[in-house]
Amino acid sequence: MIHLGVNIDHVATLRQARRGHEPDALQAAHEAVLGGASIITVHLREDRRHITDGDVERLAATLSGGVRLNLEMAATDEMVKIALRLRRAHGAPQMVTLVPEKRQELTTEGGLNVVGVEARMKTVVARLKGGGGAKGGGGMTVSAFIEASDRQVAAAARAGFDACEFHTGPYAHAFAASGGDFGLGSVGAELDRVANAGAAAWELGMRFHAGHALNYQNVRPVAALDGVAELHIGHSIVSRAVFTGLRSAVAEMVRLMEPAW
Ligand code: PXP
Repeated sequence: MIHLGVNIDHVATLRQARRGHEPDALQAAHEAVLGGASIITVHLREDRRHITDGDVERLAATLSGGVRLNLEMAATDEMVKIALRLRRAHGAPQMVTLVPEKRQELTTEGGLNVVGVEARMKTVVARLKGGGGAKGGGGMTVSAFIEASDRQVAAAARAGFDACEFHTGPYAHAFAASGGDFGLGSVGAELDRVANAGAAAWELGMRFHAGHALNYQNVRPVAALDGVAELHIGHSIVSRAVFTGLRSAVAEMVRLMEPAW
């Protein structure tokens, strides 16, 4: 079974448009769980433009019943301290996904470049895996959001990551350009790149995750890849939720991720 991580940053973006209290991120998380999400993902950005420290604290304190909190963050000292403190206090987050972060970007643009900064990454990963004497017992699963390339996978393994989340943006763009026709353009090649990187991650003892720009049209081929354990999806689910409600939008995505047989 593939797990779905639902990214609820956009719910907080809407709330921050009025600096108010609604829509509530915690309520969004509960609706996503009722729809079948097994992971709730939030990106605590340096500028706190959507998710706030208070959101992460409440989610960490509240999510239960096997639902995991995945904290996306930059590999900075500030963020590592926050993750360790939350983990000690609440036993969550259960997972940290390290992402690159630029202030002006609309969303995470590229993958993390692990090649060349492996020594620094190794220290960060080791601190997070150590967990600082966490209540939940042990440290967090640490995932690297990277491009689907052998060089990045090998570097992630050397840095000690538990998992690689492969950037599916290039696949999604190729899918849109070909209208979903695998006989046209580079969509087949882009899917193969993700598949091959996933297989390489497995061979090096890491878990295979994927995410970014996945939607109701393009998700099936990615969900069908060998060994993929988690998909992380935000924008398309929250967009659909505007019309159908979040629970139903998540349930529909979970249904599409199930094997076709
Ligand atoms: N995975 C990571 C690491 C991300 O940064 C994001 C975007 O916040 C996603 C998945 C979800 O991407 P999307 O919103 O395009 O589904």
